[in-house]
Amino acid sequence: MTDFPAIIAGGGDLAAFLKANKSAVDAALDDAGALLFRGFDVPNAHAFDAAVEGYGEPGFTYEDSLSNAVRTNVTPRVFTANEAPPSTEIFLHHEMAQTPLYPSKLFFYCEIAAEKGGATPLCRSDWVLERLAKDAPDFVARVEAEGVRYTNVMPGSDDAGSGQGRSWRSTLSVVDKGAAEARLKGLGYSWEWQDDESLRATTPALPAIRNLGDGRKAFFNQLIAAFRGWADSRNDPNRAITFGNGTPILAEDMAPAIAIADELTADLAWQAGDVALVDNFLVMHGRRPFEGRRRVLASLVA
Ligand code: FE2
Repeated sequence: MTDFPAIIAGGGDLAAFLKANKSAVDAALDDAGALLFRGFDVPNAHAFDAAVEGYGEPGFTYEDSLSNAVRTNVTPRVFTANEAPPSTEIFLHHEMAQTPLYPSKLFFYCEIAAEKGGATPLCRSDWVLERLAKDAPDFVARVEAEGVRYTNVMPGSDDAGSGQGRSWRSTLSVVDKGAAEARLKGLGYSWEWQDDESLRATTPALPAIRNLGDGRKAFFNQLIAAFRGWADSRNDPNRAITFGNGTPILAEDMAPAIAIADELTADLAWQAGDVALVDNFLVMHGRRPFEGRRRVLASLVA
């Protein structure tokens, strides 16, 4: 079995390394799904930005995305991974798979490693799907045929205390309700305004399984994170996910996927200066709770 994540140990300038070795890096990424560049000289966010630039693929901006996390841009293409409090676990997910717009790859950079905890769990979704198809074939067949829908309640203004606290104004890049409705309509969402200015929005049926085009298929969705983690003052995880036809996906439906994913998860324990590159179609990621200061930055590839 391939080492996961695969470690590429080196030294010197990571931007130059990525530029000179792009095709070898991509081949390694395709094989492993996640790469950890360790030992290179990446002292700060600007060096990380340069490394992403050296890799040379177009970026996917947070402003344009429908991500529900609150983040802050550090450079135009680099932002904080998620502003959710340290004690909040962010469960496994494919970045933005709960929306119709998602990045193909993710870069992460550890500027400051937490004193305790704070690893990034990584899990191969093709391996999860392979096992799940044996353990829960009816569930797999159903989500493959129908897709899944996600419901999220977005506040009127950003709530950094929640892992999904991004306001509807920011999420949809709009200033008023009329523009929000026009954007949602264009995306095929349904919606309902709440009394407190928050907005309950439900996606159209989105694919839950992705064909990777090389014979592999992945459990490409946000089901685990939505079911385990979309809890805050506005959101009830039991109402977050349904099959494509609108029937709720229940705890017993999710139990096998959660158990298999937990079993197959490898924790990336950060050291300052580490950079990871993750294939967003193949590998899920999350964030373990932590203590002390931790600064992990992210950059997305279109
Ligand atoms: Fe994420």
